[in-house]
Amino acid sequence: MELQNRVALVTGASRGIGAALARQLREAGCLLVLCARNEEALRADADQADLVVAGDLLDAAFRAHLMRATLERFGRLDLLVNNAGVGHYRSSIEADSEEIRALWELNFFVPLELARLAVPHMLEQPQLPGARELGMVVNVSSIAGKVTLPWFTMYSASKYALCSWTEGLRMEYLGRGIRTLAVCPGYVKTEFQANALSGAPPTPLARSKDRFAITPEACARAIIRGIRGNKRTVVTPASNWALVVASRLLPGVVERRLAKINGSA
Ligand SMILES: NC(=O)c1ccc[n+]([C@@H]2O[C@H](COP(=O)([O-])OP(=O)(O)OC[C@H]3O[C@@H](n4cnc5c(N)ncnc54)[C@H](OP(=O)(O)O)[C@@H]3O)[C@@H](O)[C@H]2O)c1
Repeated sequence: MELQNRVALVTGASRGIGAALARQLREAGCLLVLCARNEEALRADADQADLVVAGDLLDAAFRAHLMRATLERFGRLDLLVNNAGVGHYRSSIEADSEEIRALWELNFFVPLELARLAVPHMLEQPQLPGARELGMVVNVSSIAGKVTLPWFTMYSASKYALCSWTEGLRMEYLGRGIRTLAVCPGYVKTEFQANALSGAPPTPLARSKDRFAITPEACARAIIRGIRGNKRTVVTPASNWALVVASRLLPGVVERRLAKINGSA
């Protein structure tokens, strides 16, 4: 997808990956809608031309308001980036079940419901000159949506579901001009771990993660390349494809290694 003069809605744009992506989309010529709960943080980074819509995405009325405000201001939506998400470092059996549902609500159902609001408008809007599509849905999943990580099994499950739905949505609308992209970052240097619903990563991982973590800016650049190149999936850093392939070819070996890092083997 070309980005010049495209209307892009980015959730979770108040910090981290979403804020970096919003900056790069603006530089690429997008008209932006920025969403998160923290209005002050959104406004601190926003340009005058951006539409800032602050609120809680878990609230259905707020999601409807967000979409209405976007269409009222810009008359169309070309790119929906479902980036807001949260971590959860607890065992699937011992974790609080309300907490697991809250995790799924933000990581899976919010992206689904936003797409259910956006895609019907995308299908109705006129195709922009030179465009090869009517709209695109980008879902920020995780490497944990490709390889289950036992220190956050429930998070992995929510991100696997997000990847699977991204693929299904693509096929549902393949001939009708809607593209989808699943983004699967490894560790990114953001406040994600500190903001987890509960728990913390195992100590060996917490100690070593900075060695292989990428910056939110590098992650955003990979997402922009994926959007421009109409990719299906972005794994970033790309070296993590090796882990994905190893987990398919040698699942037992990879599982034992991950369980060891988790302290459960
Ligand atoms: N960092 C990593 O290592 C990593 C790796 C793989 C995938 N990811 C994924 O990347 C995405 C972004 O993560 P990040 O690292 O940038 O995390 P982050 O720094 O914690 O940012 C999360 C963003 O989501 C917003 N948000 C959270 N709950 C919300 C709600 N109920 N309503 C509206 N907005 C909400 C937050 O804004 P407010 O608090 O202002 O609402 C914030 O802007 C997530 O989906 C995450 O799962 C992250």
